[in-house]
Amino acid sequence: MSDKIMIKGAGITRVFPVPGGEFQALKGIDVEIGEGVFAILRGRSGSGKTTLMNILSTLDDPTDGDVWLGDENVRSLSQRARENFRRKRMGFVFQSVSLIPSLNAYQNVEFALRMAGGRINRESALRVEECLKKVGLGNRMTHMPAEMSGGEQQRVAIARAFVHRPSIIFADEPTAELDSAMAAKVTETFKRMSREENITVLMTTHDVGLMGAADEIIELEAGERIS
Ligand SMILES: Nc1ncnc2c1ncn2[C@@H]1O[C@H](COP(=O)(O)OP(=O)(O)OP(=O)(O)O)[C@@H](O)[C@H]1O
Ligand SMILES: [Mg+2]
Repeated sequence: MSDKIMIKGAGITRVFPVPGGEFQALKGIDVEIGEGVFAILRGRSGSGKTTLMNILSTLDDPTDGDVWLGDENVRSLSQRARENFRRKRMGFVFQSVSLIPSLNAYQNVEFALRMAGGRINRESALRVEECLKKVGLGNRMTHMPAEMSGGEQQRVAIARAFVHRPSIIFADEPTAELDSAMAAKVTETFKRMSREENITVLMTTHDVGLMGAADEIIELEAGERIS
């Protein structure tokens, strides 16, 4: 960890048009998350976690407020620059694992590296293997997704999110479909990968059992930050 801020949001509001008026999903959120920090974004269902995550990851624009990723003010980036930023410098993990069913674990991770613009060579092969070993799947590299448990598949998805050495990983409810032992294991994997590779990880969850792993906890309630 360093003193460098990787994700910064200032005065973020998000208003959605709804029948008969507007709904204020985020009411002026300030956040700062440092380089290499494993942060958990918590709050009840409907508190605004996904809305905030989508804005911080440039998938959505705030109604008001600004986001900086590293030194870049997202507002000043073109759509193409944002796409490039997402592809090369971010990794994403979602609740339902979306591995390519016809590719084995190794090939899924390698495909992600290729999508991020990485060359496929001896060095990349070592990197793919390293990532799978780091998530504890060194013995599952040639397994197809259908031959792995939900937790194993989610750990392949984590390896896939890290393989291109992004600056930031966004993970929205990555443990929601896992039992508590596997959820803890997946969370520990995020924490360890974040430490070892100095990558900032922002993960949402409402599972209180997982909070202990976080370097930092950001809590939302009804669109406001309460801690
Ligand atoms: N496109 C939209 N139009 C209108 N309202 C929306 C839209 N997207 C989200 N909302 C509302 O904003 C609020 C926050 O939604 P959000 O998905 O961010 O919650 P969340 O904290 O991620 O919840 P969960 O834990 O269930 O995933 C909810 O009340 C939701 O209904
Ligand atoms: Mg959500």
